[in-house]
Formats: sequence, C-alpha cells, structure tokens
Amino acid sequence: MRVLFITSEVDPYAKSGGLADVTQALPRALNRNGVDARVIMPLYSCVDRQRFNLKLLYQASCVQMGGKEEWFSVYHTSEPNGTVTYFIEYNNYFGRAGLYNGVDFRDYPDNAQRFAFFCRAALQTAKDLGFRPDVVHAHDWMTGFVPYYLKKERDPFFENARSVFTIHNLGFGHQGVFSPDIMAYCRLDHADFVPECFEALGQVNLMKMAINTADKITTVSPTYAREILTPEYGCGLEKYLQARADDLSGILNGIDIQNWTPNEGRHLTMPYGVENYRDGKAANKNQLQRDWGLNVNPNVPIFGWVNRLSTQKGLDIMMGAVEKAMGNMDCQFVMHSSGEKWAENTLKEWSVKYPGKIGVKLGFYKNEIAHQIKAGGDFYLMPSLYEPCGLNQMYSQAFGTLPVVRETGGLADSVDSYNEHYGVGTGFKFKDPTQDALYNTVGWAVSTYYDRPHHMDNMIRQSMSKDSSWGNASHKYIGLYDKAVSAAARVLAW
Ligand code: GLC
Repeated sequence: MRVLFITSEVDPYAKSGGLADVTQALPRALNRNGVDARVIMPLYSCVDRQRFNLKLLYQASCVQMGGKEEWFSVYHTSEPNGTVTYFIEYNNYFGRAGLYNGVDFRDYPDNAQRFAFFCRAALQTAKDLGFRPDVVHAHDWMTGFVPYYLKKERDPFFENARSVFTIHNLGFGHQGVFSPDIMAYCRLDHADFVPECFEALGQVNLMKMAINTADKITTVSPTYAREILTPEYGCGLEKYLQARADDLSGILNGIDIQNWTPNEGRHLTMPYGVENYRDGKAANKNQLQRDWGLNVNPNVPIFGWVNRLSTQKGLDIMMGAVEKAMGNMDCQFVMHSSGEKWAENTLKEWSVKYPGKIGVKLGFYKNEIAHQIKAGGDFYLMPSLYEPCGLNQMYSQAFGTLPVVRETGGLADSVDSYNEHYGVGTGFKFKDPTQDALYNTVGWAVSTYYDRPHHMDNMIRQSMSKDSSWGNASHKYIGLYDKAVSAAARVLAW
C-alpha cells in the first residue's frame, strides 16, 4: 500500500498546531506497519535545511497554473526510521517567515494561490518520482484542492488512487474562504462554482470543496465526526457532511509516546514512571513552584494550561473560573500561552494581584515548558468549546496529570470521567460551556485531591498506564485506506 501525505505542516520541520504532530507521527506509524507512506510539504524559509539534512532532488519541475507556468525545485530528507519527506521549494510563495501569516498575524493575501500551487506541485512530484499512490491523504483547507484536482483532471497516473481528506478543524476561520477571483489561477472550473461543490455564500470554500469531492472523509475523533453533522458544530457545512455521512468517519489521534513521556530527562528535574510517580512529581512540582514564583508547598494542587488563548479553547469560561477559584480555593495555576491581547493583559495583572497563586509565562509555546507543567502539575485545564481531538489532555495523562475537560470531540473520547463511587477515571468532565460548570469541576478536582488521595492515586496510575500511542490509530487508518481502495471512486455529479 502506497500512501502520499500532502500537508502544509509537519513537525519538526514547520509547525503551527496539532496538525503537524499528526502528519509527523501517523506516516511513521504507518511505515512501521508495512505501508509505504511518504510526505510532501512546502519548503518554508523557517525549515532548517542544515539541521534536517535536506538534499536537492529536482531542480526544475513545472506546473501549469491558470495562465502561468510555475517552476519549482524539490528537496527531500529521510528520518532515521525511514519516513521520507519531500519539500516543494518555491520562494515566491514559501520563502517567507510564516506558514500562513506574517508577524502581524494577518493571513497572506495570496494563500489560495500559494496552496493551490503547492497541491499541484505535490501531485506533479509524485509523478516525477514515479510514486503511484493507492491513497492520497490531504489535511485541512490548505490541501482541500487535492481531491478536487484528482477528480477533475483524471490523470491516468492517478487512475487507481483514492483521496482521503482529514478535517482537523472545521471551525469558522479554518475553512479556507476566498473570493471567486482566485478561480482562474487556481484552475477551478466555473461550472463547479455551485453549492454542491465549492461555492458558499458567493465565495470559494476549500473545506467544502474537499468534503464534496474526496472519496473518503475522516476527522480526528469519533465524537467530533458525529458533532459536525449538527448545526452547532458543522459551521455551515453540516448539510454537506450529512450527505457524505456514509463516507465520513472519526479516528482518534494518537500521541507520540517517545516525545511525550515523563521517563526521560531532557526537560525534567527528575524523570519518572508509574512506579515512582510520587517522588518524580514531587520533585518536578517543587521545581515548578520555584521557577514560577509560586508558594512552595508540596501539598497544594496545581492546574496547568498551555493552550492558545482563543475562543475555541474555552478562553472566556476559563478566565472567569480561574479567577473565582483563586479567590476561593487552595490551589495554584501555571499558564504558558499567548493569544488574545485582553487575556494576556489580564493574566499579567493576576500575577501581581495573586502572588504565589499563579505563575504566568506569555509568549511563544516552548516544548520544555509544556513538559515541566505536565510533570509538576496535578491537573490540566481544557474547557474547549469544540475540540476535534486535542492532544494536551493525552499528553497530560501520560504524565499522571489529570485533565479537566469539557465533554466534546476528542476530549469526550479520550477522558474517562472520574467515578467517585469506584474511585476510577482518567480525568474530570463537564458538559455545559459555562464558567460555573468549569468552576464546579475545578472544585471537584480540588476536593478529590484533598479528600480522596487514594482515588487520585488510582486515577494517576490508570492515566499513566493507558495506551494512547499511534499503534491503534494507524491500524484504523489502514482499514480505512483498504476500504477506500476497494470501493468504487466517487463520481461527481451536479
Ligand atoms: C487541530 C484541532 C485539534 C487536533 C489537531 C490535530 O489543531 O483543533 O483538536 O488535535 O488539529 O488533529
């Protein structure tokens, strides 16, 4: 089985979010299971060519965009485990600091052209390489063109290839919406500017394009796959997803257990495993409290947060609940984040107003800080309004830090809520997207910490022993690829 991943980001080369974790780990896991999975991404200027040992493969390949030929080069590198990644070099589009936007956080105005070009160049590269895929697997709006191009062009080279499109985030602002002016350059047919293909509210919608044209659609958890069929989570596309319900499935992401383990010393004061988690977490808690200016006390629970300060992550309810908890409960908070300015400013004020109770480090996400928070903390906050999968709750569990989550998407699927009767669970869940519901659940966690330490012990062991690796998920993807390959290709008709 040959699978071509076409994606706009891959960790560690270039990353803006969880998408890059998946496009790194899933192909690796597939390769371990006998699939020939290769990855193609753009060569942004932030990719460190030296560090990753990128080698030139082709100098002058070419794709036809509307009214224009674009020439590009292809680089490649192999990871020690054998996964091959190809990079499309075209500096007009990718020789920039950001992936999708500049330092001012404004999207680049030519994003549609950039990624249309990238999708065509990626398919051309497969042809140049003679890599004839059984499955072409694209991800999110940036590669939404891929299934469309495959269907429209009917290139004999891809005759037997099926397209799989994964939705990592369907939210508004993540659908790739552009003016119809892009159609000529991007080679979109005017006959397809209809709601059944890519037209939405008079604009071109790339997420919709992929949903309507891919052979199979997946998303990153079973619960989110059901949620996006409803108006609340479907963000205007629910009708089109309902029409594809037979081809839509949800596969819960795994986590990279080599990187996300408390058992290695790169970032931690004391590495630990489930057998010595008490000592390990105590040493890391002590360090955390010192580093973050918290009151040093081994017997107070710490809640962590490293999510973006954004609406999707439940920012508003989190801010309200945390301030109330700082006033009323004996607990501490450590927050490493960036995002909405009002929230950044409020957090700065709180570190003055509640000294010893909250530690704040704003700015770009640092991996080592995330590890330290997960090792030294007791609980991890994730009250997302919607969460296709979410990874931090699973990373936290691996560190024996119990997630406090809203019951939605992948959070619903990866956390077993505390059962007070039996003293088991891998976290704390609540349903209502309100400040009160979160505040009460934080209170539930705090009281469990003080009053039922034997239940905490059970839950920590259960969380740390849980298998969240990519092994399971990669088998599910292989099953899905098999199904896609053996089914007839989808025929477009409108
Ligand atoms: C997006 C989603 C997140 C998911 C990630 C990887 O970032 O918001 O929930 O875990 O993609 O699939």
